[in-house]
Amino acid sequence: MTATSISSSYNRLQGPSGRSMAAPMEQGLVDLLSQHLTMEREASANYFSIAIWSAQYELRGFSKFFSNESRSEQEHAARFAEYLIARGQKVPLQELPSPKQDFNSIEEALKFSFQIESDVTTSLQQIYSMAERSSDLRTTVFLDPIIEGQITSEDEFAYLLGKVRFANNQPSAIIIIDNDLNNGILPKTNVA
Ligand SMILES: [Fe+2]
Repeated sequence: MTATSISSSYNRLQGPSGRSMAAPMEQGLVDLLSQHLTMEREASANYFSIAIWSAQYELRGFSKFFSNESRSEQEHAARFAEYLIARGQKVPLQELPSPKQDFNSIEEALKFSFQIESDVTTSLQQIYSMAERSSDLRTTVFLDPIIEGQITSEDEFAYLLGKVRFANNQPSAIIIIDNDLNNGILPKTNVA
């Protein structure tokens, strides 16, 4: 191999960020990963907002639960950022809409949260399908444990929403669930 051909193949292996990368990525896949990162940041902001709302209504267990969820969504966003960096891509951070702050009940807040979880799952499935279509094995390997965690998370929210629905906005029942959350007894999940 001549010096010129070495340097031209080297240039081909540089990503948009200028960092070396072992294999190029399809732009559509990069876009979906970036959008997903934004979705995780948005989920984090919304859960932080629900943690505040819960604290204002003395629901300390729900507040603790949503604070933890907010932190874990931020960590998920960071994992996508790290992955894009590892693949030589740029990580553009988008402006986030204001989180929802008004809820009529904790049940409404949980319904809203469950919808967020469901949207996150759909987005992960779309990324996975595109990664498979473009034979991007690195991305499917990256997504496998994330999808597993997302299934558990969705199940936790569904379980909590079911319990809160059953409580039917009765303060005494909501307080019991709140205490269980505060003491780490809830949420329980059906997924191992
Ligand atoms: Fe997440």
